[in-house]
Order: sequence, then structure tokens, then C-alpha cells
Amino acid sequence: MTREIAFLLNGAVETVSGVPPTMTLLQYLRRRKRLTGTKEGCAEGDCGACTVVLGDPAADSAGDGTLRHRAANACILFLPMVHGRAVTTVEGLGGGAPGEALHPVQRAFVEHHASQCGFCTPGFVMSAYAAWLEGEPLDKRSVDDLMAGNLCRCTGYGPIIDATLALNGAAPPDEERAGAKEAARRLEHAAGAGPLTYEYGGQRWYGPTAADELAALYEAHPDAVLVAGATDVGLWVTKQHRRLDTVIDIGRVRELNDLGVSGGSLRIGAGVTCSGAFDAIAGRWPDFGELLRRFGGRQVRNAGTIGGNIANGSPIGDSPPALIALGATLVLRKGAARRRLPLEAFFLAYGKQDRQPGEFVEAVEIPLDTGAEELKCYKVSKRFDQDISALCGCFNLRIEDGAVARARIAFGGMAATPKRAAAVEAALLGRPWTEATVAAALPAFAEDFTPIDDMRASAGYRLLAAQNLLRRAFHESRRPLRETRLAGREAAFA
Ligand SMILES: Cc1cc2nc3c(=O)[nH]c(=O)nc-3n(C[C@H](O)[C@H](O)[C@H](O)COP(=O)(O)OP(=O)(O)OC[C@H]3O[C@@H](n4cnc5c(N)ncnc54)[C@H](O)[C@@H]3O)c2cc1C
Ligand code: FES
Ligand code: FES
Repeated sequence: MTREIAFLLNGAVETVSGVPPTMTLLQYLRRRKRLTGTKEGCAEGDCGACTVVLGDPAADSAGDGTLRHRAANACILFLPMVHGRAVTTVEGLGGGAPGEALHPVQRAFVEHHASQCGFCTPGFVMSAYAAWLEGEPLDKRSVDDLMAGNLCRCTGYGPIIDATLALNGAAPPDEERAGAKEAARRLEHAAGAGPLTYEYGGQRWYGPTAADELAALYEAHPDAVLVAGATDVGLWVTKQHRRLDTVIDIGRVRELNDLGVSGGSLRIGAGVTCSGAFDAIAGRWPDFGELLRRFGGRQVRNAGTIGGNIANGSPIGDSPPALIALGATLVLRKGAARRRLPLEAFFLAYGKQDRQPGEFVEAVEIPLDTGAEELKCYKVSKRFDQDISALCGCFNLRIEDGAVARARIAFGGMAATPKRAAAVEAALLGRPWTEATVAAALPAFAEDFTPIDDMRASAGYRLLAAQNLLRRAFHESRRPLRETRLAGREAAFA
């Protein structure tokens, strides 16, 4: 049991005590370490000014003793969440002192005039650095996706994109990889792989590493707040100034980070992030993959989990409509007892889920009986990238012999919870898959949904848009395919 938070900060071992466990990494960097290169723009995960790079031995699936790197928003990351991880800030790249050489990523930004006031620049540099370090392609197809979580108000994105493209294949990061191996070794020595218990000022943080430990802890502390990626919970603290007395971090629980096929289903552990689940989902259901690709920015997807997206019960969470349409089952655990329920049954009312005190989401299981072409997902939001849905519609339709043989349709943003469109499904089932059937089914939307008016969309807009999504699903099932999407599939999944 460790009682200090231990991590690597720009290569040096850092052990921390005497700060509240809900201090964010950004607060620690700026206030305690005076590492002010990492900026605060929004303190809610939106702007990317606070981007740092996390090196994670737990994500070392290759088992080669090195670290896997990802960009993260330091503003909504609680300090104990970096226990056992390597944190690199822009100061860790070099170029900070007069005469000190710039890192190749920094040099590319200078050479392409990719900075004006400079406020956003460290965040962009760190996003590019994470991708460069992992040897990701930095080409025209990937650069928008890579940078969607970083905002710039004054340079304009052209030079920033050019700087990033210039790094494509620029330098195989062998030297840095060797450094990462050394860092992994030092981390293991500094933090170990065991659980963390940390306390300060009456606030307590538990970081279990095994599911049994988590189950016992949560039964003993049913009032604790569970944290997975903290992309929701972080904002409770930074924006709502809530005090969290007891927190249980599920992010380091081994079993909850498992993802794989078993018993005819894809099982996604509650600790698997949106980025971690991407390949398994996009490879099977490209439309669900596209939905995930537009889920926040890269930094949010690197931290936010599918389990957290379900557990928070938000009516506008993006994964529940797709999962409900796919017929997913939720696995809940309390102590040693498990129960399974269809995902739609989990959402009882606004802010109310079918979860007992001390019970947590262990996994979600998606049956593998839906083909790639059968699932259509549509996210309607004001901005294409990095925005929350006004509504999100998912259609799992099987057409056999020209008639609708299966219809599972679910929406987010249309009711107080993510919800199935039972009346619309009934209006389609068994009928010929024609424009006339679709038109006849449209009034059923008003039976299923009474949407609200809010800043994202009016009730009238939502209802009409939902109906039009069914029309769109129909047209997208016809051949030849018409261009109906802002980002075509090829661009999205290449
Ligand atoms: C900038 C930004 C953009 C975003 N964009 C999107 C978007 O496009 N689409 C979208 O749907 N969401 C979006 N979100 C919301 C958020 O990222 C998601 O809801 C995410 O999936 C939450 O996962 P998490 O692991 O961060 O959850 P956390 O914040 O750690 O937890 C969320 C809730 O779930 C509970 N919880 C977590 N894990 C468990 C568990 N295993 N069992 C029981 N309870 C649990 C927590 O107690 C908390 O109530 C965005 C957030 C930000 C900050
Ligand atoms: S400060 Fe804006 S994302 Fe962190
Ligand atoms: S350079 Fe000024 S905000 Fe980007």
C-alpha cells in the first residue's frame, strides 16, 4: 500500500504528499512546480492549452518494458491519477534555456510560424509530440483528428497543421524510445504496481489495482465517488467546486481494463477508454467508430471511458444510443454478486440509474450479431468536432427479402435518458423497406419522444431532425450510395 503519490515529472522522480487528492495535475504543475508552460484556458477539458503527455506502463500491451504515450488534459486530471505514470510537460522537451536546442517538434512549429500570442502553443506542441513519439502517421487524414482537442484563437490553424505535417516520418524516435524504457524502469522502482491509498485534509483517495479490492472497497464506502477518466468528475471540482471526501479510482484496476471477445460478445471493461475501444468498435461497426472519433477531442477520448459514459446516465452521452441499438448488456457488480441487464433498462429517469449503493459497472457486452452495414449512427451537434450532441440517433436495421426483419433504434438528446424508439420500431418491423414505410413511421417519433428545448436545440428541431435521420438511414441503405456525410467513411477510418 503506497501512501505517497509517485510519478516521473520530466524524467525525475516526484513524490507528493500534503496536497488535497482532488488537486489537479495542472494546479500542481503551475502552483507547486512553477512549470507555467502548461497553460490554463478553460479548466474543463475543451481547449487543450493544458495538454501534457502521459507515459503509461499499464498500457504496455506489447510487454516490451517501455511506456505508451498519450496526450492528456492536465486541468481535469486529479494528481493521484498520475501515480505510477510518467508526465512530460513542454519544459521536458528542451529549448527552455538560452542556447538549449529545440526539440524537433518545437522547431517545426517555429519554422512554420505556427505561433502568434503563444498561449495555445505548448498544448499543440504536446499533442503533436505524443503522436510523434508513438510513431503515428502525421498526414492530412489524421491531423484534424489529432488537433481537434486544441483550440487557437489567433494564429489560424493553417501554419499549425503545416508544422505538424512536416513531422510526418521526420525522425524515428529511437532515442526517445530508449528514454521511455529507462523511464519505465525508474517508475517501477518509484511507484511499484500496487494499490494507492492517499489522504490529506480529511479527503481520501483509493487506487485499487484488482477488481476484488475495488468491490470490497466500494461495499465498505458506498458513498465514495468512483472515478474512471475524470472527464466528467473533474468538472465537478474545477467548475462546481464540489468537495469529494472519498474517491475510488477504477483506472488502475487490471480486470476493468480488459477488452476482448467472449461468448459471442465483445466485452469492454469499465476502465477501457474511448481511444482504447476504438479499433475493436470501428473495425466491426464503422459508424459507431465514427461516433467515437467525434467524441470530445483526442485528450478526452484518451481519458474518458465507455463505462463512465454509461454510468453518468447523461441523456446526451454518445455511446449509449449506439450500445442500446446493438442490444448491449450491462454487467454490474456489488461485492461478489453480479447481475446483467439490457442497457436500456439501466436508465430509469433523468439522473437516476438502476444501480445499488456499492454497486459498480464492471463491463458492457455487445453481441456480435450485427453486421457493419446494419448499424447507422448519426451525431447532430453545432460543431462537427469536439462538441456534445444536440441529438444522436442509432439505427440497427436488418433487411431481409426487402422487408424489415430487425429494428433496434435508440436516441440520445430526445428524452430525459438515452431511449429506445419502440413505436418507430413497431411501425417498421415486418414492413417492406420502402420510402412509403419510412414516411408512414415518422409520426411514431412523437409517440416515443417529447424532447426538450435547450441551448443545443429546440424541441421542434430535435423531433424533425430525428425523423430526418430515419429518412437518411433509408437513403444510405440504397445503392448507389449518395454523399450524405461531412466526413466520408474513408476519411474517418483511414
Ligand atoms: C471537453 C469534453 C468533451 C466531451 N465530449 C463528449 C462527447 O462528445 N460525447 C459524450 O458522450 N461525452 C462527452 N464528454 C463527457 C465525458 O467525456 C464522457 O461522459 C466520458 O465517457 C466519461 O467517462 P470518464 O471515464 O471520464 O468518467 P468519470 O468522469 O470518471 O465518471 C463519470 C461518472 O460515472 C461514474 N463512474 C465511472 N466509472 C464507473 C463505474 N465503473 N461504475 C459506476 N460508476 C462509474 C462516476 O462516479 C461519475 O458519476 C466530454 C467531456 C469533456 C470534458
Ligand atoms: S485548460 Fe482547457 S483543456 Fe485544460
Ligand atoms: S497562438 Fe494565440 S491562441 Fe494560438
